[in-house]
Amino acid sequence: MNVDEAICKRKATRAMLSTPISAVTIKELIELAGRTPSWGNSQPWDVSVVTGDKLATLKMRWRKEFSQGIPPARPDIAAPGHKDWDKVPRCSENIIRWKKHRLEEMDISSEQHDKYSMDLMLDFYHAPVCIYLGLHQSHGAYSFYDIGAFSQTLMLAAAERGIQSIPAFSLVYFGDILHEELNIAEDISLFMGICLGYADDSHIMNQPNSERIPSEQFMHCYR
Ligand SMILES: Cc1cc2nc3c(=O)[nH]c(=O)nc-3n(C[C@H](O)[C@H](O)[C@H](O)COP(=O)(O)O)c2cc1C
Repeated sequence: MNVDEAICKRKATRAMLSTPISAVTIKELIELAGRTPSWGNSQPWDVSVVTGDKLATLKMRWRKEFSQGIPPARPDIAAPGHKDWDKVPRCSENIIRWKKHRLEEMDISSEQHDKYSMDLMLDFYHAPVCIYLGLHQSHGAYSFYDIGAFSQTLMLAAAERGIQSIPAFSLVYFGDILHEELNIAEDISLFMGICLGYADDSHIMNQPNSERIPSEQFMHCYR
């Protein structure tokens, strides 16, 4: 598989098979992601690999938190709210179009979709591995850029090996639990969780392929 193919093969995969990923492969993926460019080669990422009993504990604690309904999020880094997206109408429109497209492709109601979403999210998408990416609290926007790039390198290297992924805010919903369970220092902000696994291709939630707007809508050329 070449890079172009890996880019096109990667998709946010919301239902994985329980098939494990070997420790050797995980190490390989992290080493490859470590080749990501960063400001002054600062390599600001802090990586936690969660599998086995620890992953089961996180799932159990997530379920407990959600047992009485949807609780407020307690992430290290706040999620954008609706009002933030509304300031950039093109982005809000993309979000609305994305959900509409999913519902059409799956031929289900929004409520059914949200129920699938919630069940899978609470089981960390059935994934055998969850990678947490953190960075020191003192780091600013350029280190955020570096972590984003690290994520994509990781997901593309995984795609090349037939391993799918999902980066998800839901995985960092309770920052306090993650700090406690993973023994992560207070001055590290957990930025993103990425589940890795082999896709369950028969699952309805994996059916849609997300669309993109044409480059003419966001590219500006000057000569
Ligand atoms: C920062 C970030 C947070 C995300 N959080 C979630 C999430 O909490 N739940 C979810 O189902 N998908 C989440 N996603 C996946 C996106 O919905 C997905 O990447 C997007 O719709 C494009 O689809 P694709 O990745 O299949 O191309 C997240 C993606 C990113 C980059």
